[in-house]
Formats: sequence, C-alpha cells, structure tokens
Amino acid sequence: MSDDAVTRVEELRALIAHHNERYFALDSPEISDAGFDVLLSELAALEDKYPNLAATDSPTKTVGAGATFAPVQHDVPMMSLDKAFSTDEFDQWHTRLSRRIGEDAELGPFVCELKFDGLAISVRYENGILVRAATRGNGTVGEDVTANVVTILDVPKTLPAGAPALLEVRGEVFMAVSDFTMLNQARQASGQALYANPRNTAAGSLRQKDPAITASRNLKWFTYQMGQIEGGPAFTHHSETFDFLAELGFPVNDQVKVVDNADAVKAYFTAAENHRHQFNYEIDGAVAKIDSLARQRDLGVTSHHPRWAIAFKFPPEEKTTALLDIAVSIGSKGKATPFAVLDPVFVGGSTVQMATLHNEDQVAVKDVRPGDTVWVRKAGDVIPEVVGPVLSERPKGLQPWRFPERCDCPNRHRLTRADGDAAHYCLHPVCPRQRDGWIEHFAGRSAMDIEGFGERTVRLFTQVGLLSDIAGIYELDFVRVREIEGFGETSVRKMHASIEASKDRGLGALLIGLNVRHLGDNGSKLLAKSFGHLDRILEADAETLGAVDGVGPVIAESVARYFANETNQGIVERLRSAGVDFAGPEVIDVPQTLEGLTVVVSGSLVGFSRDGAKEAITSRGGKSPGSVSKKTFALVLGDSPGVSKIAKAEDLGVPVIDETSFIQLMHTGRLLT
Ligand code: IVH
Repeated sequence: MSDDAVTRVEELRALIAHHNERYFALDSPEISDAGFDVLLSELAALEDKYPNLAATDSPTKTVGAGATFAPVQHDVPMMSLDKAFSTDEFDQWHTRLSRRIGEDAELGPFVCELKFDGLAISVRYENGILVRAATRGNGTVGEDVTANVVTILDVPKTLPAGAPALLEVRGEVFMAVSDFTMLNQARQASGQALYANPRNTAAGSLRQKDPAITASRNLKWFTYQMGQIEGGPAFTHHSETFDFLAELGFPVNDQVKVVDNADAVKAYFTAAENHRHQFNYEIDGAVAKIDSLARQRDLGVTSHHPRWAIAFKFPPEEKTTALLDIAVSIGSKGKATPFAVLDPVFVGGSTVQMATLHNEDQVAVKDVRPGDTVWVRKAGDVIPEVVGPVLSERPKGLQPWRFPERCDCPNRHRLTRADGDAAHYCLHPVCPRQRDGWIEHFAGRSAMDIEGFGERTVRLFTQVGLLSDIAGIYELDFVRVREIEGFGETSVRKMHASIEASKDRGLGALLIGLNVRHLGDNGSKLLAKSFGHLDRILEADAETLGAVDGVGPVIAESVARYFANETNQGIVERLRSAGVDFAGPEVIDVPQTLEGLTVVVSGSLVGFSRDGAKEAITSRGGKSPGSVSKKTFALVLGDSPGVSKIAKAEDLGVPVIDETSFIQLMHTGRLLT
C-alpha cells in the first residue's frame, strides 16, 4: 500500500466531513450531490483496493445512515433531461426524433411545462398513504427525506379512497421567491449571512436533521411526472396523468399546456422566458415532453435522459440596479482593483452586491459612474459583471469616476500605474491593506483553506494587533479573540480546529499561500511535486528552480528572491515552529482514466469550480485546454456555455456531454451512450 493512498484516503475523509458539515450543519453546500458522490466513490474505490484502510466510521459506511439520511434505491431511475440552449437546438432534437420514428409520423402533440429550479423528489404512496419520500441523489440511489417532506403542506399525506395500490409521484420541491426574500430580509436584519438563491435554500431546508426547521421554511411542491403505478387506471397520454394527479390532490402547475407542433412548443418556450419573473417561483427553462406514452416507450431512454423530452434552458439574464459606489481593494501583492458596489440585485440565480471592474481602463471603457443605473449579469453564469450604464437614466451632471490617487490605508501611499501596465499598485513595503490581503489569501480555499479569515475578520484582527502576518494565524491568542464581540465559543472553536487542520494542507497549498510574486497555483503545485519539501526549495537557486518543467525563469527568479528575503525567512521559520507541514506534494492516487484524452469544459458546472473541473481532468491524466479542436475527446457543457465552443464541437463532430456524463467519463474513461 502506498503512502499516497493513505494520504488520499485521509484527505478524502476530511473533505467529505467538511462537505457534510457545509451541507447539514451550515445549510450551505459548496458542491453538488454529484460532486459529493465523486468524492465518496473515489474513497470507496480506495477502501476496496486497500481493505486495511477501511474503517467502520468511514463516511462510505456512515453517509446516508444514522445522523444523515438512509439510502433509497429508485426502482425506476430518476433521470435528467436532455437540454437545448436555443430554439435551433430544439429543432435539431425534433429532426433527430422525427427521423428515428420515420419522417412521416407526427411527433406531437407535446406537453409543455415550466422547468422549476428546485430539487427533484419522488414520493411513494401505498394504499393511499405516503410511505416514503426520497431525493434524486445520483438518479439510482437517493436519500430518504420522508420526515422532512411530510412537513410540506403541498404534499398530500393520504390520498382519496380509490387511489392506486401503489403510486409514485415525482416533482420539484422549491421555495417561493417571496418566501426566499422574506427569509433573507430577516437574516439581514439579524446580521446573518444571506442565502444565495431559492434553490440552494430549498435544498438545504429539505436536508435538515430537524424536520421542524424544514416545516418553518414553507417549502412548496409541483408534481411533473408519474413514476410507478399499480392498481390504477391505464393512461395513454402524459397529459392525462396530470388530470389524474390533480384529482388526487397533487399540486399541478397551472402553466402546463398541450400543443400540437414544434412551432407551438417554441412559442411556449419564448413566452416562458418572457414571463419568467412573473411567477413566484424560479424557473431555469421550459420542458417539452411527447404526450403519447406509446411513442415515449418506442423512443426509450439513453443512459441518462429519456429521448422523448427536452429542456429548453434560458440564456443568462441581465438586470439593472444602482451603482452605489466604485471602491478599490488592495490585493495581497499590492494590486489595486476597482469594484462596483451595487444595490443588491437578484440575477442569474444569486444576489449580487459587488462586481469587479478590473482596472482603470475597464471603468473608462464601460463608462460607469457612481450614481448610474447599470446592467448586471453573470459572466459564464458565475462571475458577476457590470455590463454598462443605462444612459437614459443617468442623472444630469454625473461626473466620470477617477482612480483614487492614494491607498486608503493610514500610510496613504501613492497608487502607481507603470507604463504599459493596466493595473495600479500600492508599492508601500508594509501596506496594511496588502498585508491583510495576504493573510486573507493565505487562509483562502486554494491555499491553506482556513475558515473564518474573511476580509472583515482579518482587518479587525490586524487593527487590534492580534495578527500582523500569516504566521501569526498559528500564534493567535484565542483568549483575546473570545473577548471580541461576536466571537462566541463555538465559532472560536471552529476557527481553532480549522487552523490546526490547515497545518496538513501540504506543500502545494503552502506555496500558494506564501504569495510569491508571479507564482500561481499551477507553478506552486509543480514546484511542490518536483521538490517534495520546502527545505529543498529554500536551498535551490533560480537555475535549479527554473529546470522544473512548466516553471519559467521569471517565476524561478522570483521564488529565489522571495526566500532570500530575511522577513520571509522569518515567517517560514515561524510556520515551521508552529508545525505546518512543509512536505508534499499531495500525490493523488486517482486512476488515470483520462490518460491522453482532451476534455474541454464550457459553462459552469454544479459540482466543480472552473479550476476544480480542470484539476479533476488533469489529475486523471487528461488535458483540459480552453478551446475545442479536432483533438477534443468531448465537450462538457455546464450552464451558460460558450456558443462558439458548441458550434465548433458540432462542426468537428466532437461529442457534447453534460455533467452527469462527465462524471461517468471520469470514472470509466469512456463515453456511455
Ligand atoms: S421531468 C425523465 N419536468 O429537471 C424526466 N423535470 O434535468 C424527469 N425539472 O431532475 C424529469 N421541472 O428536477 C421534469 N417540468 C419538469 C421539470 C423537471 C424541473 C427538473 C427535475 C429533474 C431535472 C432534469
């Protein structure tokens, strides 16, 4: 058994414990169920291979039981829907299916429905009594959330006499927009962090250990599909099942519409998009299903979606809001970045109150001025972006914004912009803002991943003299921290535990945290992999460092200069004394399923950050460039993908897959159809 396997198992257990806590205790998941499943199955595979590493308290044995939720096997898998991102793509789907059934036959009528942005559940009734409710999980195995689902008023607990002996109904649990807004208003009033969007809040509310919390959230439910049925009427059309479900008391959405042909489906899609904000629930698209159940059976299913239905996904939205101010933040390396302070606006699935404006030129090009009404959207569906001003609403005499001349720290050091450089810098050697930025960066997720060191806390700690550099995190006086208002016993205990856990993050993360100019995440990992211990990097000269594949002379020089600096040497020694692990790298014992394959990702995935998806590919031996070429093995589409990438993939015949197939591809190295 390799040490790497031991390390990875420990790392996976820690990661799973972390995500479990985010999910259950903090009600604020960072990854999707699918992303979580990837971690869990990687751990299970390692435990299978090395039985000595298996432990009875391993999350592979405890997740889904006891304190969490029991697993539920779906007799009929809960599949996802095929997607179209434009009406053209819908036409292609229509043509494909028409060919499949024979050009002359009619595909329609279609049932058009809204695509609710919530959480899929399956509810099972035996002899008219609700016996079980389960989440979708990975489609085959979900979680038993009966105790929580019975608190949802919309979900019937018993059915009228004459109901089928067995009935399984599927639908979407969601939180009404008005309830979400009220919940967040209450949280804001009591100084709590705001929830990101109704979908995550609904999901978090449904997965509470205490059903009383679920009950307090006023969740709602729409049914959209009948699952298993025994001892009930036989249906010939999907639309009939809606009438039947409504009669039994299930909530059926009032926008369901049966239409005859493809043009009418497209008209429904357009209308749904135009009216999406008039509904008191979030939708992220519309769905068309072939009404005839016989035709549905003929068309069948692929490994992850039925052929007889398609979801039309809305393109990203833009909203207007007030640009309250343009502020400047000083990064860990002194870079001064202007950002928009916005009147909070709900756009693209979450509330946006800040957006980077990158640099002086970008502000000028966009010509946005504090006091303007501006258009805001999510670039790539994740990063908030200010698109531009609404000129017709610009107040008279509003002046263009000017880059501040000085840093707002007490040194008031001049901000300089070098010739040919787009960015301003504060070059003061001990700028408190830079120092704060460095501490924040060190504690950040890609570096040491220490919880609780956000901008406000760091500034507070440095202002009161509790902290003056990154090594100080490991020398924190927790008794003094406890004396600060707002730092209760639990939060301090959590902070302490997170600081301790960070000591084992490994050399790659440590190098990222040390904040060496020009050395990014990738370079840090390459150095960590190649040198294996910080002491060997300390001893190396620029030439030796530059010999590492992927580390150029500029980075090598910068690293050598960094470690020759006495202040930095002092910090390194204090980190050593604190017990921070200088060894590494965390070599990941991941099966090389993607060896030699190029997989391009476009749009935002639910279970992976942009870098996370890349890393998942490269750690499995694959490549993940930013553009599609004829060498591309597959294009993975998330939400709001690049249109040109899709067109190019289609041109070159590159398979286009969704996140579920991506996860399967990572496991198997093959595309499953
Ligand atoms: S039908 C076999 N209808 O979209 C197809 N799903 O990507 C089963 N969803 O997990 C789903 N609104 O959570 C269907 N009107 C609707 C829907 C809908 C939202 C969600 C559902 C599902 C996902 C599929």
